[in-house]
Amino acid sequence: MADKGIFISFEGIDGAGKSTHIAALAEAFQTQGRVVALTREPGGTPLAEKLRTLVLNDAMDPLCEALLMFAARRDHLRLVIEPALARGEVVLCDRFTDATFAYQGHGRGFDLAVLSQLEQWVQAPTDSAEPRQPDLTIWFDLAPAIAAERLASARVPDRFESQPVDFFALVAAGYAQRMAQQPTRFARIDADQAKAAVWPRVRAACEQRGWLRPLEACS
Ligand code: TYD
Repeated sequence: MADKGIFISFEGIDGAGKSTHIAALAEAFQTQGRVVALTREPGGTPLAEKLRTLVLNDAMDPLCEALLMFAARRDHLRLVIEPALARGEVVLCDRFTDATFAYQGHGRGFDLAVLSQLEQWVQAPTDSAEPRQPDLTIWFDLAPAIAAERLASARVPDRFESQPVDFFALVAAGYAQRMAQQPTRFARIDADQAKAAVWPRVRAACEQRGWLRPLEACS
């Protein structure tokens, strides 16, 4: 039987430590014979990557920021995500729409009802259909003060990474609200632990859904 596409997104405030786990999960799926499409938002297509450079670096108002995030998402969905899912691949996407609700909605204070309208326009295949959502969203939850410490030693910050701790507290509350609204889609993982302790939880979220075989069953 052909594999069914699986769409997984990864979320969290800047500094929460998503990257290594996304790479490890890609390898875990590939080891079990799945084709993986590793991608990110904003970005993932030539046009969306150009929009990413703009939105992470150029000054703009919150409406412009939200529109560019959704413009990038539209291109990414049409050209990368939907085709990969149709081919039965595993799409691992570093951030998706929950980031827009958390950062533009809660962080910047932009109107959540407008974001919901954009979500419907951009992500629904037809007007009456439900918007496309990930099958699973892994949320790396970390206290903003700890994330700020981690970021302080990182590279030159972009427009989001340079925000104060208070901004990230709002963003974290935004993720919590999205999870409360769609609890079965989310796996919240406590990211205030060593990477080696976080990884088994990431893997377990996929095993519980029957997408990865437990390691002992593979040997
Ligand atoms: P991030 O995913 O942290 O990538 P990197 O690890 O390369 O820095 O950076 C993307 C930034 O974009 C992050 O600060 C959150 C922000 N963002 C939004 O504000 N809204 C969105 O809808 C998305 C997808 C990202």
